[in-house]
This record gives sequence, structure tokens and C-alpha cells, in this order.
Amino acid sequence: MDSTPSGSSATRSARVFLLPMFLLLIPSLVLSDAVQFCDAGYGYGDFACQNSPVSLPRILLRGGTVVNAHHMEMADVYIQDGIIVAVKPNIVVDDDVTVIDATGKFVMPGGIDPHAHLAMDFMGTQTIDDFFSGQAAALAGGTTMHMDFVLPINGNLSAGFEAYKEKAKISCMDYGFHMAVTKWDDEVSHDMEVMVKENGINSFKFFLAYKGSFMVSDELFLEGLKKCKSLGALAMVHAENGDAIVEGQKRMIELGITGPEGHPLSRPPVLEGEATARAIRLAGFVNTPLYVVHVMSSDAMEEIAKARKSGQKVIGEVVSAGLALDDTKVWDPDFITAAKFVMSPPVRAPGHDKALQGALSTGILQLVATDHCTFNSTQKAFGIDDFRKIPNGVNGLEERMHVVWDTMVESGKISVTDFVRVTSTECAKIFNIYPKKGAILAGSDADVIILDPKASVKITAATHHSRSDTNVYDGRTGKGKILVTIAGGRIVWQNGELKVTPGTGKYIKMQPFGYAFEGIDRKDAEYLKSLGAPVKRSRALS
Ligand SMILES: *[C@@H]1O[C@H](CO)[C@@H](O)[C@H](O)[C@H]1NC(C)=O
Ligand SMILES: *[C@@H]1O[C@H](CO)[C@@H](O)[C@H](O)[C@H]1NC(C)=O
Ligand SMILES: [Zn+2]
Repeated sequence: MDSTPSGSSATRSARVFLLPMFLLLIPSLVLSDAVQFCDAGYGYGDFACQNSPVSLPRILLRGGTVVNAHHMEMADVYIQDGIIVAVKPNIVVDDDVTVIDATGKFVMPGGIDPHAHLAMDFMGTQTIDDFFSGQAAALAGGTTMHMDFVLPINGNLSAGFEAYKEKAKISCMDYGFHMAVTKWDDEVSHDMEVMVKENGINSFKFFLAYKGSFMVSDELFLEGLKKCKSLGALAMVHAENGDAIVEGQKRMIELGITGPEGHPLSRPPVLEGEATARAIRLAGFVNTPLYVVHVMSSDAMEEIAKARKSGQKVIGEVVSAGLALDDTKVWDPDFITAAKFVMSPPVRAPGHDKALQGALSTGILQLVATDHCTFNSTQKAFGIDDFRKIPNGVNGLEERMHVVWDTMVESGKISVTDFVRVTSTECAKIFNIYPKKGAILAGSDADVIILDPKASVKITAATHHSRSDTNVYDGRTGKGKILVTIAGGRIVWQNGELKVTPGTGKYIKMQPFGYAFEGIDRKDAEYLKSLGAPVKRSRALS
């Protein structure tokens, strides 16, 4: 069976040929969404097309070490109807239950990636991975849920939400949405309320970079922070100084630096540090929690460390590229080799990666994302004469779990329970979906992986499941192999084979006032008390 989402042209023509025969054999009543998607050319081998909705299997994971963020134990895990029913030693089941031997392996909650961009329109093109291929890649790498960023259409949040609902219909794993805010008026303010109260969104992102497209002013950012606070929604920030970046880009072009190395040179760590500091101070001024996405430099990380030490509620997200890569390849004489590493904020000079690993291990940064935003080499070549036109973004959905295992656990920096916390549980807690997600407990969703700590992994662009022809981790080997992925109670990855069906992923609604909001009201009360104002004064002048 062909298990690459892109599919070879041979399997694609086989599918076109098989489909009419298949339609003759099956009464139209059972024609599922999956068949419509196959019709639209989305098939995943013929498996997806023939696999109309069936009852979910009963599964027993036997003899493994079950790892949660809070605890690790030897236990069996029994799954039925997409839910974890029991977690305890020596579970006895009927003969018709699918038993998977997990002896000597870790049984863990599936990864949750808080930050990826699938089917995103950006820089004159669209990311090469859509909700199907990106999620298929994620599942092959042990991630069972991701959160995407709804982009408004001409500033219109409702229109953006409708568009993303359509894009996500082909999902093969569960997903949630954040939403970007790019302009401010009464309709935007009203729509934010609708998103939180009716549409299951509990976080909004503000870009301090991308001048002329997504970038917001401090004035808009303050309005947004106030609105987020009143709704109990988490404010997220892309922290780079967009005005200074335009200046930096001009400087590089004037110096005749038009290649990919101009990208990191035009937006150095100091601009990330400045914007991070500014965002933190403004969120502190409003007294609302702040989530800083993709912390890429020690400059930004130090600002978060300082704020957290002072007691401010700031959450720091690191991405797998920030932990495991540096910018040396951006100076490669081969354009595509260099351009595939172009992302924003940029991967930094050697040393920042180690600093971010340390920050993750000591709790200064809390969770790991990917910012998966893939463009193939044809798309990257849009910027062959001008680095400003290279679509920004790298892969990571399939690689994240393994990269975190190898750089953090295998190297002795974090424990196995911490691995679960930073790849899954913390995300579920921050976005208020724990313990439905992020835990192996009776009653949790059956999103479970089996990881072999001893088996090696080799990442290559030729064998990955993304539609891109390049991979920033190409050739990398390390420990921590995902043997099995179970998503929503379905075994979707086993023996190196993917079995996924478009339309099986569910939209996960998220409630406002997550744990980051606890205590905000008491801090407000303390602030008001501290003012010692207004002072009562007699109007009579003596
Ligand atoms: C925003 O989009 C929604 C949904 O498509 C639409 O009903 C509304 O009229 C739009 N608002 C504006 C100002 O165009
Ligand atoms: C990149 O994707 C585009 C659009 O799907 C396609 O036309 C092009 O051939 C791809 N390039 C490579 C090198 O795969
Ligand atoms: Zn992003």
C-alpha cells in the first residue's frame, strides 16, 4: 500500500480506475464523506476510499510503561469507542480485542502541537501541506492533535473562521483553532466575543512583525489585550519589531546581500528581544496572561525568565527548529539548501539552541510546538533574487516528538514524564482541554502513542509524509521511535504504515478562562488598593 499522502501518479491513476467499480458494489447509502474526498483527489491510497465509517476497534495495549505528566507506572491500557476505558495492570479481555504488545516501551498521550499552519495563504502562495497531508505526517510522528491559526479575511474574523472550517473538513486527526486579530473596529471586537462564546476559540494572536500585512500597532495590541482579558481568552504574540525589520531588510539590500543569509541578518535577536519585552510589559500593564509563540533567541527567552521571576503570567513556547537547528546552513552556497531554513523569527546562531534547551528543561519555557509551515523548493525559489520573497516556514509536525526525545530526554536534560508534559499535557492545560486531551486516564480521548526509547530514527525528505520535497532535518538520526499511533481510537500508524481517512478528525472546542486566568481578579483588586487614589480633597482653598 502506498502510504505517502502525495501518492505516486501510479496509485493516483489506480484510484481513479477503481473508484467507479467500487461505487457499483456499494449502495449509495453508505457512501461516506471519505468517498467524496477520494473523489476530489484526496485519497490516501485506496484504503481511505474503501474504508467507510465502521465501528471503532477495541484495543488493549499490554505490558508497557504508561507515562503521564504526573506519574509513570506499569499498566495495560484498554480502549473502546475512541475512549480510554481502563488503565491498570493485567487487564483481561475477549479474544476479539486487538492486542498490541508494549513490553519494554513507553505508552504516552499523543502529542499536541499548539502551533502549525496548514493550507495557509501566505506570501503569494499556499503552504504545501493542507489539513490532510500535514496531519497525516503528524500522526506518523506521534502527534494526534494540532492547533492552527485562523487568519481573518481583510480583517474579518467571521469570514476567516468560515474559510478555515472548510479547509479543515479533510482532517484525519483532532484539531483546534487560535485566531489572529489584524485590525480593530466594533465588528472585530464583537466577533472576538462570538468566537469565544459560540465557536470554541479561547486564544487570539497578535503579530508585532509583518509590517503591511498582519502587523498591529501598540494601540491595537492594547485594545486586543483588554478584550482578551474580558473574555478570558489567552493573548498570543509573535514578538519581533516589524518596523525595524523593514529597516534591516533595506540595509541588507543596500549592502548587496540578496541571498537567504540576508533573512537572519535583517532581523537579529535584538529585535525579537525588544518586541518580547514590549509585549510582556503591555500585557503586565493590562494584567492579562500572555503566551509568546516561537521563542527563538536567548534574548527573548531572558525577557520571559525575568517576567516569570517577577510573578507575571507569561507562557513561553519553543519550536522544534529552535531546539535542534542553527543558522549555519543559511550560508550554504546552494540556494535551496539555504532557503529551506528560512523562517521567522529566524533560526539563530549556534548557542541559542542550547540556551532554549536549558530554558525548557528548567521551566522558563513550558511547551514545544513546530510552527510547521511548509513550502516546497519551487515555492522557496520565489525568492531566488531577493530573500524578502522566500516564503517563510519549515517543517516539523512529523519530527517534533522524536526531536524533543532525542535532544531533551536522550541527552539527559528532562525526564520521561517531563517529555509528556512539554509535548502534550501542558498544551492541553493551557488551552483548557485537559484531561480529555493530554493524559492517559480512564475517560480521556484515545489519543495514545507507543514510543521505543532504544530504536533509532533516520529522518529523510524521501521517506517523510509531508508533501514538501525538502526537510530541514534531512539525514538526522537519533533515538525515540514512534512505533504506534492511535488517534480517536483508531490505529493509524503501525509497522511503518499509515492508515488515515479524511474527515475523521474532530474540531475540539475550547472554553475560556483557563488556568492562566486564575488569580487575575485578585491581582486587579490588589492593584486598585495600591493606588491610594483618588485622594479626597476639599474644594475650599484655605
Ligand atoms: C464578515 O464576514 C461575514 C461572514 O462571511 C459576513 O457576514 C460579514 O458581512 C462580513 N463583514 C464585513 C464588514 O464585510
Ligand atoms: C511544489 O508544489 C507545486 C504546487 O503543488 C508544484 O507545482 C511543484 O511541482 C512542486 N515542486 C516540487 C519540487 O515538488
Ligand atoms: Zn506561526
